[in-house]
Amino acid sequence: MPKLSDLLVPAPLRKTPKPGETGVPKTPATQDLKDNPPEQQTEYGRLGEKALEAPTEALAWVDQRMAASGFLTGMLFRKVPKGTNWFYTLGSATLFAFIVQAVTGVFLAMFYTPSTTQAYTSIAHINNDVFLGQFVHGMHKWGASVMVILIFLHMGRTFFFGAYKYPRELNWVIGVVLLILTMTMAFTGYLLPFDQRSYWASIVGININGTGPIVGPYLSDFLRAGPEFGATTLARFYAIHMLLVPGAIIALIGAHLYLVVKLGTTAPPWVKAGRPKGAMPKAELEAGANGSGRVNGSRVAGPVSGDGNGASA
Ligand code: HEM
Repeated sequence: MPKLSDLLVPAPLRKTPKPGETGVPKTPATQDLKDNPPEQQTEYGRLGEKALEAPTEALAWVDQRMAASGFLTGMLFRKVPKGTNWFYTLGSATLFAFIVQAVTGVFLAMFYTPSTTQAYTSIAHINNDVFLGQFVHGMHKWGASVMVILIFLHMGRTFFFGAYKYPRELNWVIGVVLLILTMTMAFTGYLLPFDQRSYWASIVGININGTGPIVGPYLSDFLRAGPEFGATTLARFYAIHMLLVPGAIIALIGAHLYLVVKLGTTAPPWVKAGRPKGAMPKAELEAGANGSGRVNGSRVAGPVSGDGNGASA
């Protein structure tokens, strides 16, 4: 029986097994049919085989209609540079935290009422009466801090590894916008329980925004949704938290990951770039560049004129 990981490799990428090797052949398994002819298989065994193949067949059915395997192959089987380490998982960890927030948020939205008179009681209802309500609410609340911590760690990794440099500047800028949007999610979500703490903390937050130069007062007016902090503010925070910002985050994560796949990831700064296959040996290149045609006193083949283009007579 081939391994599932082998089965999931798209057919064009599968290595045809050498005689005697086990693997997933590109053609129907003649050897299998010889060892296990259909007339000797029991009904139970045949059903079992079919059940095992069902998920792969379902995927193949979808793939034939969507031609998705080309994209997935590029995405999942891309090469990563030498020296890739655990710090490179921080982006995926941030993505996972976002997905957890999205899923738990959907369940909370089923029971939450965004009104100044009912918000607090609806949260109390989630915590006290709803099945697993306190657990899901806790996941969402603590998950917000987890996502903020992870996004900063991921940003630190990309900064210290120099991943913001050419040609990845645009991905860094998209990342900065993702950071601002994540902080906006944390800020707008804080008001939603509408208890004493969230009420006063949001007033302080809006006032701090108001102290910003030029746009500050407009920003605080926009967040407060009018001159007074109250019902309109809660409705605005709810719309920003539930619709506006999550939509923007999803779109930007899509663009961010597209660029990661397209450009590949950066090697750690301490890993020296390998010389491409077929490149001129380094010794020859240096000899050509300094024009002496000699390395450590002995003559080497290659250009001696120092034209540096690698051409040799
Ligand atoms: C919702 C937030 C974010 C998600 C889900 C996310 C996800 C990812 C993933 C999965 C990668 C692949 C490599 C890795 O994990 O290190 C990546 C790479 C990258 N991210 Fe993010 N990211 C987010 C926020 C940010 C932020 C805030 C910045 C910087 C301000 C940033 C800048 C970058 C850069 C420059 C790369 C390319 C890394 C390289 O070439 O080695 N990202 N991101």
